[in-house]
Amino acid sequence: MSSESLTVTDNRTGKTYELPIEDGTVRGLDLRQIKVTEDEFGLMSYDPAFNNTASCRSSVTYIDGAAGILEHRGYSIEQLCERSTFLETAYLLIFGELPTAAQLDRWTFDITHHTFVHEDLKQFFQGFRYDAHPMGMLLAGVGALSTFYPDAKKIDDPEERYMAAVRLIAKVPTLAAFSYRHNMGLPYVYPDNDLNFAENFLSMMFKKTEDRHIPKQVLSKVLDVLFILHADHEQNCSTNAVRGVGSSGVDPYSAVAAGVAALYGPLHGGANEAVLRMLRRIESPQNVPDFLARVKEREEKLMGFGHRVYKNYDPRARIIQQHMDEVFEATEYNPLVEIARELEKHALDDEYFTSRKLYPNVDFYSGIIYEALEIPANMFTVLFTIPRTAGWMAQWMEMQEDPELKIARPRQIYTGERERDYVALDDRNGPEKITGPPARRPKRPRRGA
Ligand code: ACO
Repeated sequence: MSSESLTVTDNRTGKTYELPIEDGTVRGLDLRQIKVTEDEFGLMSYDPAFNNTASCRSSVTYIDGAAGILEHRGYSIEQLCERSTFLETAYLLIFGELPTAAQLDRWTFDITHHTFVHEDLKQFFQGFRYDAHPMGMLLAGVGALSTFYPDAKKIDDPEERYMAAVRLIAKVPTLAAFSYRHNMGLPYVYPDNDLNFAENFLSMMFKKTEDRHIPKQVLSKVLDVLFILHADHEQNCSTNAVRGVGSSGVDPYSAVAAGVAALYGPLHGGANEAVLRMLRRIESPQNVPDFLARVKEREEKLMGFGHRVYKNYDPRARIIQQHMDEVFEATEYNPLVEIARELEKHALDDEYFTSRKLYPNVDFYSGIIYEALEIPANMFTVLFTIPRTAGWMAQWMEMQEDPELKIARPRQIYTGERERDYVALDDRNGPEKITGPPARRPKRPRRGA
């Protein structure tokens, strides 16, 4: 009997099975041999929300949630934020190694020269309502990109994969800025190839009548750090969506659109928007104890706290904290920061939160910095999408090379009825009161032309 194995006794039959342990895991499929009778399906594992199930092998990102460690391809997030740039980190994620100077030049050139989107895509954006949520526009825009690059369907072609990675990383910021300008009723701003990645994004967001919009260096640098911090985070909800949808063999634009949709949710990328709403509702640091009492009564959730993987301070939150002061030196002070710091202080001193290992996550402070950059709350998740596109593409490309790649298809425990006889309409009994769809709300008048 191998020592790297698990011995399981099925108490229904008394039979014993030896399951190999590899990399600290047992294969779910090895359970299938455990049966009472030969003709039954065999034992399955039940793990809603993948709490304890590894869905793939990956060498992109390492997290030690208990120790609060995050590494990309083995490099710590602290070193990357201090010494790298977002584009270099994106290269590292996708290719597995830091680029040489020549490789970085070529990569930067390729990304910079693919930032424009087809004019038809601009028209497509113009079709959205004036108040469409920018994340909805971005989601649709990323999906629509697949129609502009039909060759991306050739997912076995390394050149097509590379081009899809370049185009997505380059064009998502353009679509993101278009979605903001659309909401503001402002003309869309084309990319400026002489600016770096973060500067170009800020220019596309905020350029007015000036010939060229060059943001303050401290702000574009902090934005670049925020982009590095959000570039990848192993098998989270949206990455799992990209991998799950991508496992069907669909083109990478469609797979990444699934990631955008997943990121939109308030428990994932939407949390920093929810943090700001929460801070505004709290109104002042004096109200923090009352608010936390309501959290403990489960009437509220402390947004920006807690994480499925980090059971310690999220290292990304610590790095954001370090940049807060320099941002506020260059911008207007945001009083919400005092409420946030008071919340953190009280929560980290409260047994309810410490016993559940609830610490600030990346979203707790990122919204406050975005607000200082004059980015409205409904754009926060859009800003998360820009760097995460690099992580999604790194994970998608890795998945294509995985010899164990198969279409993702979980099992279920069926809990419904079986083998019922169809009942004719006249013979069905039901409640007397007829319920139907809710009455339509009166149409709101359209604003503007
Ligand atoms: N406020 C109050 N209580 C919380 C919070 C919170 N933010 N998060 C978890 N808890 C409590 C739960 O009620 C639970 O308590 P119980 O065991 O007494 O029932 C316990 O802590 C464990 O929480 P789970 O829900 O099991 O943790 P899970 O891993 O499923 O959830 C999640 C993680 C979704 C991030 C959760 O902590 C949460 O909703 N946080 C707020 C939203 C947020 O900030 N999301 C951003 C995550 S980071 C990102 O996506 C980039």
